[in-house]
Amino acid sequence: MTSLLILNGPNLNLLGTRQPQVYGSTTLADIEADCVAYGTELGVNITCTQSNHEGELVDTIHAAKGTFAGVILNAGAYTHTSIALMDAISSVELPVIELHLSNIHAREEFRHKSYIAPVSIGQICGFGAAGYRLSIDAMLGHLR
Ligand code: DQA
Repeated sequence: MTSLLILNGPNLNLLGTRQPQVYGSTTLADIEADCVAYGTELGVNITCTQSNHEGELVDTIHAAKGTFAGVILNAGAYTHTSIALMDAISSVELPVIELHLSNIHAREEFRHKSYIAPVSIGQICGFGAAGYRLSIDAMLGHLR
């Protein structure tokens, strides 16, 4: 069975109460449960993890190699700053989809820069919590 990792970065544990006008009112627990249920529907094993720590996200990406066929990554603010995450993705050579709830291109200029984009197969942003299901579909299409 295909296994996918959904990895969420800093502050995404606060979804539901964090700036709901920007990120919506769905909690991360709800999003993760929905991803797992969608995976069951599709016959795909979905594992979800979240960390607020850059090094832990790097470790999780390293450990994904050999276990997961692909990674869906919402790196939060590390998207815009982290060469370490970019290098981790290049090092494992796993397909990664960059995901954001908000449309980062319609927001502040510092959010337009992504260190994840050049090492990703594609980016999904601006569709809120629905982006997670869209990313699963996109990853499965890529792997097929
Ligand atoms: C985010 C967008 C980032 O710019 C921000 O720092 C986040 C969330 C999103 O999902 O829209 O933490 O990744």
